[in-house]
Amino acid sequence: MSRTKTYHITTFGCQMNEHDSETIAGMLSEMGFSQAPERDGADVVVINTCSVRENADKRFFGTLGQLKHIKKDNPDFTVCVCGCMMQQQHIIDSIKSKYPWVDVIFGTHNIHEFPRLLETVLSEKEKIIDVWENGGDIIEGLPAKRLYRHKAFVNIMYGCNNFCTYCIVPYTRGRERSRKACDILEEVRRLTEDGVREVTLLGQNVNSYMGEDGTDFSDLIYRLNEAEGLERIRFMTSHPKDLSDKLIQAYRDCEKLCDYIHLPVQSGSSRILKKMNRKYTKDDYLRLVEKLKAAVPHIAISTDIITGFPGETEEDFEETLDLVRQVEYDSAFTFLYSIRKGTPAAEYEDQIPEEIKHERFNRLVELVNEISARKNAAYVGKTVKVLVDGPSKNNSAALGGRTEGFKLINFEGPQDLTGKLVDVEVTAGKTFSLEGRLEK
Ligand code: 5AD
Ligand code: SF4
Repeated sequence: MSRTKTYHITTFGCQMNEHDSETIAGMLSEMGFSQAPERDGADVVVINTCSVRENADKRFFGTLGQLKHIKKDNPDFTVCVCGCMMQQQHIIDSIKSKYPWVDVIFGTHNIHEFPRLLETVLSEKEKIIDVWENGGDIIEGLPAKRLYRHKAFVNIMYGCNNFCTYCIVPYTRGRERSRKACDILEEVRRLTEDGVREVTLLGQNVNSYMGEDGTDFSDLIYRLNEAEGLERIRFMTSHPKDLSDKLIQAYRDCEKLCDYIHLPVQSGSSRILKKMNRKYTKDDYLRLVEKLKAAVPHIAISTDIITGFPGETEEDFEETLDLVRQVEYDSAFTFLYSIRKGTPAAEYEDQIPEEIKHERFNRLVELVNEISARKNAAYVGKTVKVLVDGPSKNNSAALGGRTEGFKLINFEGPQDLTGKLVDVEVTAGKTFSLEGRLEK
């Protein structure tokens, strides 16, 4: 009897990509493949790529380079690449000319076709490139091999219509398309039946969700709040220009909606925000945060910030620092502006020298970390509800989980608490996590 064939998936990028990889893993399982612990030794490898910053591009090509020797030793080894980078012709051209050991290239719009493409490559031993330029109908019912038993990602919409001038996503993920509310509710019903306690609703801009029956994003939250067995609802990402009062009200009305929001600001300078095509000013954003804090006093807020966008002056950057001080983010993802071919900002002439970008980035990170540490320290002595994820990543003797505000917390406790909601008293607050003691 031949042994079971194995696969290994490497994922770069955002939760959307993580979730696409769960779908790809689900399809491979249905095809009879089992998961290999390492890339070396697997029969099929899939690399799911991200193109949001140049760094991810470089890491992808580095990874592809490493696969050459495996292919040389084992010609049956099958290399598949997919994700956002494949939606760009210049990337496909590079792969064709420099990395001929790649067997299958597919894109973000035809993930559901992967089993057919792989079967064809395996039987006919020919390379396949199949990338769709646009998203067709949303395909329902694809399998998923989830990372966790007790929590799941649920896509509610695909694509983005916002065209922020630095961002490649509208070009790689296409225009906005919302799933039907009834399909989302049915998926969540099946997930909770399977033990899921927390869902994270995914979309590039969840606020512009519009279901088939007029269900908007807040309506969807209200409807999910009724889902039996579900304990927590999160979502990402939310564009500040579209965050409605109705959604703020939903935080008050829906006890399952976690008191947490990821609200990317990108810059604190209204002048730069305009050049970024974000469609709000610094004051608009601050007013929005005030409204959120007034309605939901314990809300935890995180954000994304870019330093060194073309034309950013020292004064613009100081506006960003000022905004960070005013909002007091619980955490922030900070990025160096990265030129993305095909986006408007790539053509701007006033690009910022790398050393200035780095210098501002370091100052920003220092401020962000100082605030995170202060906010985390303020939790000491309080009791928080934690959904236990399992053994802690950096200390396998302890458990790790997330608070409602999405803070990572580690504490001693039995492994069988994994997937359960428990009360934990916070004993220490660090920059990136909390420590606690399980309450009896
Ligand atoms: N350069 C740097 N950061 C970027 N992001 C998106 N495009 C770029 C770019 N060209 C950041 C934004 C976005 C996050 C997912 O990635 O902050 O919110
Ligand atoms: Fe990119 Fe802006 Fe769309 Fe977010 S909203 S995916 S930053 S274009």
